[in-house]
Amino acid sequence: MDKKTIKKALDHIGRYKLLLALTIVLSAVSVALSLYIPIVTGHAIDLITSQTDTQELLSLLLGIVVVAGIAALLQWATGLINNAITYRVLRDIRNEAFEKIQSLPLSYLDVHSTGDVMNRVIADAELFADGLLMGITQLFTGVATIVGSLIFMVRVNAGIALAVVVLTPISLFIARFIAKHTHEMFVKQAEVRGRQTGFVDEMLTNQKVVRAFTREKRQLEDFDRINNELEHCSLRAVFYSSLVNPTTRFVNNLVYAVVALCGALICIGSGVGGAFTVGSLISLLAYVNQYTKPFNEISGVVTELENAVAGAGRLFALLAEIGQIPDNDDAYLLDDAQGDISIDNVDFSYDPQRELIKKLNLDVKKGMKIAIVGPTGCGKTTLINLLMRFYDVDKGSISVDGHDIRDITRHSLRRSYGMVLQDTWLRSGTIKENIAIGKPDATDEEIIAAARSSHAHGFIKRLPDGYDT
Ligand SMILES: Nc1ncnc2c1ncn2[C@@H]1O[C@H](COP(=O)(O)OP(=O)(O)OP(=O)(O)O)[C@@H](O)[C@H]1O
Ligand SMILES: [Mg+2]
Repeated sequence: MDKKTIKKALDHIGRYKLLLALTIVLSAVSVALSLYIPIVTGHAIDLITSQTDTQELLSLLLGIVVVAGIAALLQWATGLINNAITYRVLRDIRNEAFEKIQSLPLSYLDVHSTGDVMNRVIADAELFADGLLMGITQLFTGVATIVGSLIFMVRVNAGIALAVVVLTPISLFIARFIAKHTHEMFVKQAEVRGRQTGFVDEMLTNQKVVRAFTREKRQLEDFDRINNELEHCSLRAVFYSSLVNPTTRFVNNLVYAVVALCGALICIGSGVGGAFTVGSLISLLAYVNQYTKPFNEISGVVTELENAVAGAGRLFALLAEIGQIPDNDDAYLLDDAQGDISIDNVDFSYDPQRELIKKLNLDVKKGMKIAIVGPTGCGKTTLINLLMRFYDVDKGSISVDGHDIRDITRHSLRRSYGMVLQDTWLRSGTIKENIAIGKPDATDEEIIAAARSSHAHGFIKRLPDGYDT
């Protein structure tokens, strides 16, 4: 497993120290209580075999019910706490991812499909959370169960306890060995899943193009290919990882059988009324069961854990992307732009291999009206991208009112432009909210005035809810 990913996950979980401490304490208590039950059961059995009074037996049974009840209650509480930790971590990470997306240089989105990025924030984050929940639940109760049952086992019979301790971890080694070989496949699975989401996203957003060119069948074939690939690598990943649980169970069952056999022999050897009673044997076997349970459980969820680590890896890779260069601390605040723009010896290309703009010079004075005309692909939109500082120039400089735009805060620079994009984007919300996107506190009068000046007022008024549609 990827150590860096795990370290980052731990950093995020570590923010909830109080909840973590609480869940550790509660699981320890609940485990201790459930471990206490076999002792009482053992006593009860010895009481039955030696036929002493029923009164004592009844109170023992009542004790078992109470202890088991409290243990169950605590288990429920730790479940809630573990969920609370998981969902908080998930919320934090998604917030960070969203913030990251908004601070990434636009060039990142040029080379990563929207669907793939989306998949990281939604599906990979979900996988991570599932694994995390399982991880913290299993880890704390698992460790507590192992330590606790060990202590109880040693008290009953140290020799047998030692044998169990030595034999059980064999299953862990087997689990590790298989897990090592499946990690790669889970990473591949997460990658293909990202591609699939990307494909569906592209298909949906460009459905018109697909139909216009009657590409439905081809698209279906392409989708089929990705879908089959996903099936193939998911199955391969599951094939190996699903070997883990049966293998560990097999080993642990063998250990159990050996202990039962040896225990029975010792029990018979010590005779009726000896130190090692039937009751001791039964409680010992209960502890062996408890002791091996965490090993079985951990290996049973190896698939989910591997999946989670692969998902987390992709999510953290997004978080680790380098954001755009932040504004200088002393960056200029352009609040009353005059509109003098000068482009000075600018070189720019999206891809260093393909030159686009070379030594461009342009001087525009306040109040001038300029039209930029040229064949498609000559770089008109690119020029706008540079003016808005969606991309930084490679050489030369662009300045507004005499300030290099790299020395102006991005926020104030962009607010100084009025930009009308070719593609319209309507956000989910009312018409009013859409018009006021650049000025959320605009008054109704301002919104109506804006709509009037773009000749939209009339048709908006005819809509069922007018500006609130
Ligand atoms: N995000 C990008 N990544 C890589 N190359 C790009 C990107 N955007 C545009 N290009 C390339 O840069 C060149 C200039 O594109 P640009 O969009 O500026 O042209 P344009 O003049 O606006 O064209 P049109 O008239 O079609 O709008 C084209 O060759 C285009 O393929
Ligand atoms: Mg263009």
